[in-house]
Amino acid sequence: MTTHHPTALITGASSGIGSELAHVFAEHGYNLVLVARRESKLQQLASDLQSKHRTTSWIFPIDLFNPNSPDELHKKITVNGLTVDVLVNNAGIGTYGKFTETDLECELQLMQLNIVTLTHLTKLIARDMLSRGSGKILNVASTAAFQPGPLMAVYYASKAYVVSFSNALAAELNGTGVSVTVLCPGPTATEFQEKAKMNNVRLFSRILVMDARAVAEAGFHGLMKGKMIVIPGIINKTLVQIQRFVPRKFPILVAKFLQEGRQ
Ligand SMILES: NC(=O)c1ccc[n+]([C@@H]2O[C@H](COP(=O)([O-])OP(=O)(O)OC[C@H]3O[C@@H](n4cnc5c(N)ncnc54)[C@H](OP(=O)(O)O)[C@@H]3O)[C@@H](O)[C@H]2O)c1
Repeated sequence: MTTHHPTALITGASSGIGSELAHVFAEHGYNLVLVARRESKLQQLASDLQSKHRTTSWIFPIDLFNPNSPDELHKKITVNGLTVDVLVNNAGIGTYGKFTETDLECELQLMQLNIVTLTHLTKLIARDMLSRGSGKILNVASTAAFQPGPLMAVYYASKAYVVSFSNALAAELNGTGVSVTVLCPGPTATEFQEKAKMNNVRLFSRILVMDARAVAEAGFHGLMKGKMIVIPGIINKTLVQIQRFVPRKFPILVAKFLQEGRQ
């Protein structure tokens, strides 16, 4: 007797939250399509998942900064005869510093990856899901989505886009069998802060930082329940809720304080 294993495609699976999501999906019987640039990391992950959970993984090393990459990825999926039951748009980067001093090229790449690639890939895969009448999409945003973020202005704005886009799409697709969930982690221990050169900022102090595994579990279970928004962790949930009841300038001041370097 053969058992059907659903397939989840995860972008940014080579480290951090994406890699933990791959483990959680594998534990729940999913096969995986793993996407990122670092092929050796994806191979290692695929081999771990195979030995621990007998998971079949397809590895697609692709640079998602490239505007053609969503079409390229979609073509690979079709050529390999794969059906994507779950799309996880997780790949993302941050840039840190005063907007007038940060590197424009990095911010253009950030917007390409965090916004444009996410939107393009969702368009291609959501259409396939809609024609089958089933599918789930998990977009990874951030608690950064809920207020402007001085010293990370472009990153915070990119995540506000992801929440707005995901919630609107969820409403459009309601009743079609295709659901859209947006995951909004707060600071999480991954490679992100080092790559964004923000190891020393207050936001990443130990008390606020969550474990990537806990974030991935919250995302998976929220997705399976069909939630529109998932904010992992009680501190993150509380901070987001409080902002709704105070004048707009206060969360911006708090964000600026948290984004500054520790003395
Ligand atoms: N860590 C946090 O505090 C935090 C908080 C809230 C939200 N988030 C969000 O969570 C998501 C995952 O980040 P993370 O914290 O897990 O960081 P991470 O460990 O740096 O992982 C980022 C992933 O994105 C991939 N990626 C980056 N640029 C890429 C490109 N051009 N093409 C293909 N893949 C690319 C990386 O793979 P390669 O380098 O191998 O390509 C890596 O797998 C991001 O959307 C981030 O904004 C993070």
